[in-house]
Amino acid sequence: MTPNVMGAQRRPLIAGNWKLFKTVAESCALVQELKAQLPAVTRAEVVVAPVFTALASVRAALAGSSVRLSAQNVYWEAQGAFTGEVGPLQLRDVGCDYVIVGHSERRQLFGESDADVGRKARAVLAHGMAPIVCVGETLAEREAGKAEAVVVRQLVAALAGMTDAEFANAVVAYEPIWAIGTGKNAAPSDAQHMHAAIRGCVASAHGQSRAASLRVLYGGSVKPDNAAALLGQSDVDGALVGGASLAAGSFCAIVAAAG
Ligand code: PGA
Repeated sequence: MTPNVMGAQRRPLIAGNWKLFKTVAESCALVQELKAQLPAVTRAEVVVAPVFTALASVRAALAGSSVRLSAQNVYWEAQGAFTGEVGPLQLRDVGCDYVIVGHSERRQLFGESDADVGRKARAVLAHGMAPIVCVGETLAEREAGKAEAVVVRQLVAALAGMTDAEFANAVVAYEPIWAIGTGKNAAPSDAQHMHAAIRGCVASAHGQSRAASLRVLYGGSVKPDNAAALLGQSDVDGALVGGASLAAGSFCAIVAAAG
């Protein structure tokens, strides 16, 4: 099986992570711009992830388009005495298809552990949605030659206990932390190297065919001018886009780069 043949089987996914930006009105305005400007024909599946409070309105605004909805985080219990949390039942109810889990900002700023990320991923799958599981190393870890070991550790924890059927719906996003919001993207060849390592790790845990169908997105300063080079790598199956997803022009250009 050549990488190109594998690549041809996977539909690119371009997801916009809006982080803690935009009011409900601003989110809906961006959706209208996306509807007007997204390429009429694209291979890519397009996803947007607004803040929790905008999910319902964005869902309504997306009517008539094929853009899908994601949340940025979730708690792993569906309901109970967990003041302030939002569970998978509520996200499914509001129309989410995807949920980002384990973003490095959650891990670093809010103390999420590898085990937490695994619980969240399984809760998302159990409620019929797909987790976008984020993994990635810090600059210090990369400089110490530990990048691959860190990513594999995060991945193994996130995938632990997932059945093969559940796993079929999961998406992985490799986001080197030093590339997020810094304007310094990974070199396409470095991204390819890590994506191939991720696929290799998944092949050991879930077999070659699951690994071959897994979509592995790259995230970290993806912009219109570097998207084609990154997306052109045989194991890069899409992008998780932060800053450049906040404006329709740059996000649509990245979608166009996916072909
Ligand atoms: P960035 O963010 O594109 O602004 O670097 C990516 C992310 O955090 O998902």
